[in-house]
Amino acid sequence: MIEVENLSKFYGDRAAIKKLSFKVDQGQLVGFLGPNGAGKTTTMKILTGFMSPSEGQVKICGIDIFENPMEAKSNIGYLPEHPPLYHDMKVFDYLRFVARLRGVSKDNETSYINKALDSLDLKSVKGRVIGHLSKGFKQRVGVAQAIVSQPKVLIFDEPTVGLDPTQVAHFRELIKELKGNHTIILSTHILPEVQASCEKVIIINQGQIVAQDTLKNLSNKTSSGIRRVEVKVRRVKESYIKDFDTLEYIKMSTLAGNSIHFDLSGGEESLESLSSRIVESGMGLLSMNVASERLEDVFIDLTKSKTNELKNITNQGV
Ligand SMILES: Nc1ncnc2c1ncn2[C@@H]1O[C@H](COP(=O)(O)OP(=O)(O)OP(=O)(O)O)[C@@H](O)[C@H]1O
Ligand SMILES: [Mg+2]
Repeated sequence: MIEVENLSKFYGDRAAIKKLSFKVDQGQLVGFLGPNGAGKTTTMKILTGFMSPSEGQVKICGIDIFENPMEAKSNIGYLPEHPPLYHDMKVFDYLRFVARLRGVSKDNETSYINKALDSLDLKSVKGRVIGHLSKGFKQRVGVAQAIVSQPKVLIFDEPTVGLDPTQVAHFRELIKELKGNHTIILSTHILPEVQASCEKVIIINQGQIVAQDTLKNLSNKTSSGIRRVEVKVRRVKESYIKDFDTLEYIKMSTLAGNSIHFDLSGGEESLESLSSRIVESGMGLLSMNVASERLEDVFIDLTKSKTNELKNITNQGV
C-alpha cells in the first residue's frame, strides 16, 4: 500500500534522511518514531507529495507519487505538523472545500463531512470561524480535514499535539476505528499512544532507520538481546541459584524475597531450559514472567548515540 525505496533528502549538502526503505501493508497502523530532527516530518512531506526527494521512490497504492501526483494524492489524507487551515473560513465550509478539492462526490459530501465532524467531536463548532477556535480545536479540524474524503492512506504528523487528555483518548479510539479500513502512518512523541494502538513501529535516528519491527518484538528485545525474567518460587534454595549463574545464557540473577530476577540471553530455548531447571530444583515454581521492555527504554537505547545505528536489530519486511 505504501512502498518507500531508498529515499534521501539533502538540504544543501546536509542529509535530512538517508536511503530510507520500508513498506506498510494495507490496513496496517505503523508508528513512526524518532527524536527531534530525526527526519520524520521530512519523510512525511515526501510521502504525501508535498516535497520532492533528492533521490528514491514512493508508491501509494501502487502509484508513483512523483510520476502521477494527482492520482496518488487522491488516496492520501495528510495532517501536516502545522495544519493548513484557512483561518477566515467556518469549520463546515472548510471541510466542504477540502472534500470538493479531493473529489468527494456531491452525493457523499454532506454525509462525509458530518462523519468527520462526529469523529472529532466538532459538531458544536461547525459554524464557527476557524481562526477563533482554541489550539486544540484547530488541531481537531486539522485531523478532520485529513479524514474527510475517507482516503485509503492516512498520514498523521503528531496528531495529538495540543489536545486535552479526553481528546487524546478520543483520538486513540478514532485511530482504532480507522485502522483496518485505512493504512495509517502515525508520527508521535507520545510513546504510550504508540503502545496503545500501533502493531508495528519504525524508528529513525539522524535520518536513518534504526529499527522496523512489530511492537511485540521490539518490546521484548533490546539491542543487547537480553530478556528480563521474574520468577516466583515457594522455597528459595540459594545453592541452586548459584548453579544457575554458571549457565551460559544467564547473564545476571538477583534475589528479592521469594522472587528471583534473571537476565537471559538467547531466545525461547533459554526460557524453556530455565523453567525446567527451576522445576527440577524443587523450589516450587509459582510464576514466571517475561518482562516486556518498555518502548521508551527501547527508543532511548536505539537513538541515544550514533553507534546504535549500526546495531543490527532491524527486521525487514514490516
Ligand atoms: N527547510 C529546511 N532547510 C534546511 N534544513 C531542514 C529544513 N527542514 C528540515 N531541515 C532539517 O532536516 C532535519 C530533519 O527535520 P524534520 O523536521 O524532518 O525532523 P522531525 O523528525 O520531524 O523532528 P521533530 O520531532 O522536531 O518534529 C533536521 O536536521 C532539520 O533541521
Ligand atoms: Mg516533525
